[in-house]
Order: sequence, then structure tokens, then C-alpha cells
Amino acid sequence: MLGKRAEPSSTAICNVAIDKIPRHVAIIMDGNGRWAQQKGKLRTFGHKAGVDAVRSSVRLARKLGVESLTLFAFSSENWQRPKEEVGVLMQLFSMVLKSEVKKLNKNNIRLKVIGDLSAFDSSLQEKINKAEALTEKNTALTLNIAANYGGRWDIVDATKRIAQKLANNEIDVHDINEDLFNQHVSTSQLPELDLLIRTGGDHRVSNFLLWQCAYAEFYFTETLWPDFSEEMFALAIQDFANRQRRFGLTGAQIMTQDAGTS
Ligand code: IPE
Ligand code: IPE
Ligand code: MG
Repeated sequence: MLGKRAEPSSTAICNVAIDKIPRHVAIIMDGNGRWAQQKGKLRTFGHKAGVDAVRSSVRLARKLGVESLTLFAFSSENWQRPKEEVGVLMQLFSMVLKSEVKKLNKNNIRLKVIGDLSAFDSSLQEKINKAEALTEKNTALTLNIAANYGGRWDIVDATKRIAQKLANNEIDVHDINEDLFNQHVSTSQLPELDLLIRTGGDHRVSNFLLWQCAYAEFYFTETLWPDFSEEMFALAIQDFANRQRRFGLTGAQIMTQDAGTS
């Protein structure tokens, strides 16, 4: 279950009122390869550098009181990359899990990994299970790492689990609605997705949170992932806080609602 929102400490880089902070932010961490190539290095050098940007985004999310941060680390399509690159990414994932879990736990951060984990070797699966169990009760931030994740996989997986319940007579076909479906996707325990950020200059979703991004705000930046600093993340959150989310209503209706609640 989700815990209480962490008290945000005031920070000079982001002056956003707590009720304007997105509860759930997701990031497509793109541009590692190009970052390295621009420096005349191997693409894998960029993946290694990307780990520092992960640390700083986790730090800022926790500091600002974001409840849930979902990071796209490896897509179901990324297996098609050269074998060496996939190998380095797996090694890196395993190493980072090992080196960071204690720190995450000390900082009251809960770690979850979403995606089809059955494709990973058993020692990596075991590390993931242990890390999740260790941090399960933490409440300052939920950090979701999307690994071997695909939005279409998530929808098909939810459908399979619902179909199984139907076959077992645990539910009736009339019980199937958006709420029930939402309870079966990989993010079922998290708040609605508020903000989806993509670094690296491309304007696409690349099979990330397809079901979840229905009403998310999108933020695109040219910055390549290893250069995405706390300040840049804070700018994205500030931009989000200045938007009017209308959810199908008119701007005037939203203003009336806001006047009623303030
Ligand atoms: C994102 O960076 C990291 C992963 C997909 C694992 P890329 O590796 O896609 O970097 P670019 O987009 O090729 O620069
Ligand atoms: C999306 O980036 C996946 C991750 C960031 C893990 P890609 O680099 O794989 O996306 P495409 O291939 O440009 O759509
Ligand atoms: Mg890319």
C-alpha cells in the first residue's frame, strides 16, 4: 500500500505548492547512446553515465514529495539490440540493484520492478525479489523500474489475469470495467500517472505506459538522459504545475471547481 506523502523540504530549485506536485511521474530515459557517441565513446559508456541521472531524479522526486516515480530502463523491444549492449545493460541492472538497494532502504524508498521478469536469469530475478521484499514497507517514495516492460504486454497480461478469474467463476463478465482493469495492470497500486517525461528529443511513447498515459501530461526535452539534472527535472515539474488539466471539461468549469476548493 502507499504510505503517507513525505513532507517536502523546501528547495531553491523548485517552488511548487505541494498540491501542484505530480503524484506519479514516469520518465522515458532516452539518449544514453547518442550522449556517448558524441563524446567518441561506446554506447555502453552512456548507459553507465545514465545511472547518475537516475540517482539525481530519485533524489529530487523524494525531496519534492512525488509519491511514485516510474523509470523506463529496458523495453520489451530492446532485446533486439546488439548482444553486447544487452549484456552490458543486464550487468548494469544487476550491479546497480546490488549497490543501491541499501541506500534506497535507508532513504525510506520502496523499490518495485514492473515488466515481464520471467525473461531474466534466475539470479537477477532473485535479486529483484529480495530488493522488493526489503523495501516493501517504505513510504517516502515508490521507485518503479520498468524492465522488459511493454505497454502492450501490460494490457495483454491484465487481460489474461482477468480471463483466468472469469474462467474460475471468481468474477462475472459484467464486473469487467475500467476500475477492474486498472486493478490488474502492473501499476495497480500506484496513483494515476500525472506526468510523462521523455528525454533525448524524440516525441513518441515507444510502447511505455499505454493504458496509464490516458490523461498524463507530456513533457519532452532535447536533453540526453545522462545530462538530465535535478534542475532540469525541477523545470519539468514547474511546467506541469502551470498547466490546466481539463479532463474533458471546459477551462471555465475547471476555474469554478478550483475556486470552490480554495
Ligand atoms: C536509452 O538510451 C536507454 C535504453 C533504451 C536502455 P538509448 O540507448 O536508447 O540511447 P539513444 O536513444 O540510442 O541515444
Ligand atoms: C525507449 O527508448 C526505451 C527506454 C528508454 C528504456 P528507445 O530508445 O528504445 O526507443 P525508440 O527505439 O527510439 O522508440
Ligand atoms: Mg533511444
